[in-house]
Amino acid sequence: MKYVNVGLIGFGTVGSGLAEVLLSQQERIQQRTGLLVRLVKVADRSARELPARFADTVLTNDAADLINDPEIDIIVELIGGIEPAKTFVMEAIAAGKHVVTANKALLAQEGKDIFAAAAAQGVEVGFEASVGGGIPLIKGLKEGLVANNILSIMGILNGTANYILTRMTDEGSAFAEVLKDAQDLGFAEADPTYDVEGIDTAHKLAILMTMAYGMNITHNEIVTEGISSIEPVDIDFAREFGCRIKLLAISRNHGDHVEARVHPTMVPDSHLLASINGAYNAVHFHGDMVGNVLLYGQGAGKMPTGSAVAADVMDIARDIAAGSVGRVPSLSYLPEHIQDRGVTPLDKISCPYYFRITALDKPGVLAAVADVLSRHAISIESVLQKGREEAGPVSIVMQTHTATESAVSAALAEIDALDTITAPTVKIRMLVEE
Ligand code: HSE
Repeated sequence: MKYVNVGLIGFGTVGSGLAEVLLSQQERIQQRTGLLVRLVKVADRSARELPARFADTVLTNDAADLINDPEIDIIVELIGGIEPAKTFVMEAIAAGKHVVTANKALLAQEGKDIFAAAAAQGVEVGFEASVGGGIPLIKGLKEGLVANNILSIMGILNGTANYILTRMTDEGSAFAEVLKDAQDLGFAEADPTYDVEGIDTAHKLAILMTMAYGMNITHNEIVTEGISSIEPVDIDFAREFGCRIKLLAISRNHGDHVEARVHPTMVPDSHLLASINGAYNAVHFHGDMVGNVLLYGQGAGKMPTGSAVAADVMDIARDIAAGSVGRVPSLSYLPEHIQDRGVTPLDKISCPYYFRITALDKPGVLAAVADVLSRHAISIESVLQKGREEAGPVSIVMQTHTATESAVSAALAEIDALDTITAPTVKIRMLVEE
């Protein structure tokens, strides 16, 4: 039987998951590829030895032992972060090896260099596991949905943030209480700021947008706000408006420009994304031919993510065996058709808004707020007032009709400057059903 040799850099959660998948599914992999896919070497700086069942695999602490090994066909990078991951990936490509990575930060920031180098060398780069763990989102875009113009992407792409919001919603717990539990469960990033401040979600959205729209984009171009300032009171008010608060990645393709944003969003209970709970991920694509598609599953974890890495390895192994390397372009579009496109400036975005205004409970306060909103052409859909305490401030909660971000920012600056307003107004954007 023909074989393909794999070298793995990084034997952490996902790396050890890949090793387990390649071992436990060996027979199935042979039945599906006609090949023996062998994990021949692992490089890891801290592992002392591999479990006995990986007796055929050599352990080293130097990635160069893999990159310089002429017997290795595919290098899998699973160490995360920008450096030394980028150096290893670029060196592997320069050595003529195919690369598989789960590194969303690396691809969202340095993808342009990596894909250009791979195209020049005629090697493949697989990155299914970089977005949505075990969910076949990348394959979905580059194969199943390939005949569509993708018009929008909306997703829950960070399990940690979704887990925290779900528990805050179900139990009324505060943000800080739940974060620690999420870290203990092992799906949070090394720096949980990436999870809760939306950065990890923005990395993943940049990758999906590149593939869906054939555009160059880095996560730095995506408006990104996290969930650390969400309070249980806003979750309760959201419920009264028939919504749940989710950290959403949102992108709409307007042809000559595209929206790209990550922020807490009030999602109507009737929308499928409102029912994605716990550490699960889901992405909702709208294609011009197919209509709506929802892909749902485990966005992190050893075996789900390990199986996605193994799928990339198998794809490349099949292409090597068939002499069809590069048959499916790594980014779905041919490199010469990946273009720069404008990203819609934040102040041009429009949607309905939720406001929580903290005000003294006196005659004329609501009229003054309504006057500011009316001067900025912001129309109110509904209003609630809660929490009257002895001479203390109250929450005036509003849902608006669709308004522009620029009008909302200007109006809230004026509202917050009123003498009767005692704390900055909380603003949460609302999702409109497509
Ligand atoms: N930290 C990520 C999450 C892991 O919580 O979803 C997978 O990218």
